[in-house]
Amino acid sequence: MQRQQSFDKPTRIEGSSYIVEGIEAQEARNTCLLFSPKEQSSGSLAKSLKIFKKHDINLVHIESRSSVRVPGYEFFVEIDSTSGSLGKAIDDLRQQCSYFNIISRDYRDNTSAVPWFPRRIRDLDRFANQILSYGAELDSDHPGFTDPEYRARRKYFADIAYNYKHGEPLPHVNYTKEETETWGIIFRNLTKLYKTHACKEYNHVFPLLVDNCGFRDDNIPQLEDVSNFLKDCTGFTLRPVAGLLSSRDFLAGLAFRVFHSTQYIRHPSKPMYTPEPDVCHELLGHVPLFADPAFAQFCQEIGLASLGASDEYVEKLATIFWFTVEYGICRQDGDLKAYGAGLLSSYGELQYCLTDKPEHREFEPTVTGETKYPITKFQEVYYVAGSFECAKEKTIKFANSIPRPFGVRYNAYTQSIEVLDSKHQVSNLMNIIHCEFQILQNAVEKLRV
Ligand SMILES: [Fe+2]
Repeated sequence: MQRQQSFDKPTRIEGSSYIVEGIEAQEARNTCLLFSPKEQSSGSLAKSLKIFKKHDINLVHIESRSSVRVPGYEFFVEIDSTSGSLGKAIDDLRQQCSYFNIISRDYRDNTSAVPWFPRRIRDLDRFANQILSYGAELDSDHPGFTDPEYRARRKYFADIAYNYKHGEPLPHVNYTKEETETWGIIFRNLTKLYKTHACKEYNHVFPLLVDNCGFRDDNIPQLEDVSNFLKDCTGFTLRPVAGLLSSRDFLAGLAFRVFHSTQYIRHPSKPMYTPEPDVCHELLGHVPLFADPAFAQFCQEIGLASLGASDEYVEKLATIFWFTVEYGICRQDGDLKAYGAGLLSSYGELQYCLTDKPEHREFEPTVTGETKYPITKFQEVYYVAGSFECAKEKTIKFANSIPRPFGVRYNAYTQSIEVLDSKHQVSNLMNIIHCEFQILQNAVEKLRV
């Protein structure tokens, strides 16, 4: 993976204690090191930097912060892996450190490295220029391929997403009359089926979206309104995406309860068909269940499990996501009901999936994660979950079996991922859980009265 970063002047990053930047914009194969020197003195950073200089390593970014792993400070260094003798520098540096970890986009070149993953919610901004295909690039069999007006519109949406930064309001879009009519056709057809085909959680939330976010056949809801609604319900937020993300990056967003959402709509010539996710799929398929606490947690667990996992396990998690969040079915009061977004946004497949034509199997992450699936036609197999809670428990159990030398936890106060790889952190977490448990105990006692 490659990425470009520009550091043309010293910058202070909010939440960090101290930052030094260097190096012009470059296309680099970057590796990140996280380390805490044994000697904690004012010159300890300078001493570490001398090692990089000695081995001709170019630094792209340096950051220091108070360590949660060991008493004192730790340093986060991003380096250009193509420069100097990285292996020797790592050996020298490791000897001086009480804590040392390698985090890398290019971890396959270094078997001891953990794949890079975002640690703070604003790190998701880095995904914008790592999309696998830009929104305006359409395949030759796409319904809008020969329509210059549609292609220009797709570029407009892609540019919005490409330039979006965390914390900004989601750009308001004035949809055209034709786009709203396309939405209206889909909306009217699908809403006829929800009462009988969608799970009860979906049907609970949908009227709230009508009341609060303008879900109507003559209006395409704005992502900003929907995102604010979800934030109030479960802390989930939306951010626009310019094209297809890798599975690793897409799942990493879920760890922060962030869903990368498209904002464009399918081509008007085929309102009931789209070869890729569009705003109808996101808003009618995904959004309602992100407002459900158990489902939101289930999605976040898949995201957390993906952080720092190998490609093999990220692939399994992406497949689990496919058979649950996209094409999941659950059992409610003896009947099968759809909860997957790919089903809830497809008039044809929503009806087909609950018939006896396809095969229905019990959701079991170890098996589900290895199942092959078609992406251009209806599924032949669907996995059925007893409940979101049950799916979540099974997924957590599967996540715990993923080889990874640390645990991860999302800190909602700082909107960051805590990597749990020291006794000190585990002890802090135990204190937090102890306080939470006291709150629980107190509430249970009051309920008994
Ligand atoms: Fe989707």
